[in-house]
Amino acid sequence: MSEAHAPISAIASAEVPRHVAIIMDGNGRWAAARGLPRGEGHRRGVEALRRTVRAAGELGIDVLTIFSFSTENWSRPATEIRELMGLLRRFIRHDLADLHRNNVRVRIIGEREGLEPDIARLLVEAEELTRANNGLTLVVAFNYGARQELARAARRMADALAQGSLKRDEVDVETIGRFLDAPDLPDPDVIIRTSGEQRLSNFLLWQSAYSELVFVQTYWPDFDRAALEGALQEYGQRVRRFGGLVARTGS
Ligand code: IPE
Ligand code: IPE
Ligand code: MG
Repeated sequence: MSEAHAPISAIASAEVPRHVAIIMDGNGRWAAARGLPRGEGHRRGVEALRRTVRAAGELGIDVLTIFSFSTENWSRPATEIRELMGLLRRFIRHDLADLHRNNVRVRIIGEREGLEPDIARLLVEAEELTRANNGLTLVVAFNYGARQELARAARRMADALAQGSLKRDEVDVETIGRFLDAPDLPDPDVIIRTSGEQRLSNFLLWQSAYSELVFVQTYWPDFDRAALEGALQEYGQRVRRFGGLVARTGS
């Protein structure tokens, strides 16, 4: 990440979307292919994340959302969950100062209830420290599931209805958007999933209504700036119609 955006190398600025979301998948298969434990894949995945955050800032992307741990990932073996939680702790402890120095604003989406207290505290610390930064916004989807986010939104709406601050007839698409975990952020222009899987796995179901989906074969630990630029080039070739007839390309 740099404060002034570096010139965009291989990709045209028309291909730089405002909001890029990434499903970082394939850490386990990356490790298995090398005869390494899955945890090694996750550790190398953190390095790929650092590279990607830096590249996103340099390319002039406004918002980068990363899927780091899903609601359904709790069904993995306890040892793997411990490793993933350890990596999150280390990522925030070691990288937060750097992110802050680079003017990155950290936001977290997902369920906070029920998290280990020290992790919950670290998430708050990351958000508070970087609140006033106006460079790249890094949205970490942690303990996140899109259906659960919609259920949270419905509960918040129910509270607002009960308190009288929201009326039944005001419940429309925009209103629902306002009750999501990060209501002020634009929808992702593109969702990239690594590792060859072609599904959303409960990620941003509401916000992805008109997102372009780009699936790449690369396992997440191998992802880098060139892979990001490649995915953005593919995005740049898509014709976004939003249901209409007038073709609008790119962002
Ligand atoms: C992504 O890699 C990391 C998380 C889901 C936390 P995986 O751990 O899903 O790796 P694969 O899909 O088993 O290869
Ligand atoms: C999605 O990957 C969740 C994250 C990347 C955090 P998974 O590996 O959990 O998804 P499935 O189980 O293959 O659909
Ligand atoms: Mg996976």
